[in-house]
Amino acid sequence: MREFNTFGPVNPTEHYHVNRVAVKADLRARIDKGRYLTLNAARQTGKTTLFREVVAELEAGGAYFAILLDFSALRGFSGARLYERLAVDLAVQAGRLGVPAPAPLRDHGDFLDWLRLCVRQRGQRGVLIIDEFDAVQEEALTNLLSLLRAMYLARYDPLYPALHSVILVGVRDIPSLLHGTQSPFNIADSFVVPYFTAAEVADLLGQHTVETGQPFAADVVAAITRETEGQLFLVNRLGQLLTTEIVPGRDRAITNRDLAYALSLLLSENNTHFASILSKATPHRSVLLPMLLYGEQTSDFLAPTTQDLLMYGVLRAVEDAQHLRFARIACPIYRKLLLMRLARPELDPPVNGSVANRYLTGGVLDFDEHLAANPLLAEHGPVFEQTVAGKAVRTYLVAAA
Ligand SMILES: Nc1ncnc2c1ncn2[C@@H]1O[C@H](COP(=O)(O)OP(=O)(O)OP(=O)(O)O)[C@@H](O)[C@H]1O
Ligand SMILES: [Mg+2]
Repeated sequence: MREFNTFGPVNPTEHYHVNRVAVKADLRARIDKGRYLTLNAARQTGKTTLFREVVAELEAGGAYFAILLDFSALRGFSGARLYERLAVDLAVQAGRLGVPAPAPLRDHGDFLDWLRLCVRQRGQRGVLIIDEFDAVQEEALTNLLSLLRAMYLARYDPLYPALHSVILVGVRDIPSLLHGTQSPFNIADSFVVPYFTAAEVADLLGQHTVETGQPFAADVVAAITRETEGQLFLVNRLGQLLTTEIVPGRDRAITNRDLAYALSLLLSENNTHFASILSKATPHRSVLLPMLLYGEQTSDFLAPTTQDLLMYGVLRAVEDAQHLRFARIACPIYRKLLLMRLARPELDPPVNGSVANRYLTGGVLDFDEHLAANPLLAEHGPVFEQTVAGKAVRTYLVAAA
């Protein structure tokens, strides 16, 4: 029996898995065109799962070979030690590809020569994929980017065999890594991994129903899509809570009331996904509070704060009916999480008259008091009550069925 996965890449034999045909085709098309690109998305958005599947399909087709590296193991290394560690990983890839390991690997120059050797020996299109490329320190990264740029620019010269495509996978984009200095990788295209569509959420949850016979009541799937907007980890985590902790028996359907309970459990847990969102959101609390409380949006995509919050997935760029782009809190679950966490005085004592102060009672965000003033919260019925600093606080989630 498969299950919902919430830790790391998805394995379709063990986990419910959405075959993201359209997204894979899009990435595949960029690779076919010979692009050198970054694949950026916030934590737990399906980056690793996506490129692994695309690479497996490419290699199975016979026209491509792939070199797969993960720089998270190089974090903290620099200079000669970094290249010693990298050499170990390259030797593994060399074994897989049947090419000689790099000897020696003193610096990025030797790395470039080895990449060219791979292309020459294999005689196929080469794709280099570096997961967590943003883990290495800035100097090594700049050298790597210069090396890839040199390879890209000489790609039509038969004397210098070049990789057909390069994909750098990570959370941080290159301008932010290089602090705005001119990037040597300005040849790169950027691929953004989208959230699940409503149909993909229904596909994932439907797999549980097919395998166990346990249905989700008609409006529950729509409510999960509304609350998560398709954020990949959140959809899986709600599926997991509902089917393992809240309704572990398979003899009844999952209802909206169960979902309300699952949301309250989710919002009180200390998972790494929320920790990452909170750590990126907290420094920008004053920008976020009006968005959280009044549903404000921004179209100022050039503002460094907007860029940062988009990059880390706190905000999401969406289009209105007129196709105008704007950024807003990425999904209702983040809004609830951030409301509960950011509107608390211990982070930054509110100044009289500030947005935060108007919504705090006894130092705690009071959902009851401000329900009338806040249509965003009025959509939701009360679900759970907790005592914070000696005061009962109610949290409003989705309306119970
Ligand atoms: N194709 C898929 N079908 C179902 N769930 C998926 C799929 N891809 C990703 N997920 C969900 O997203 C989670 C994260 O996937 P993955 O590790 O591929 O993302 P990532 O962006 O590389 O994460 P990280 O930033 O932690 O490296 C998985 O644990 C799973 O819950
Ligand atoms: Mg990953």
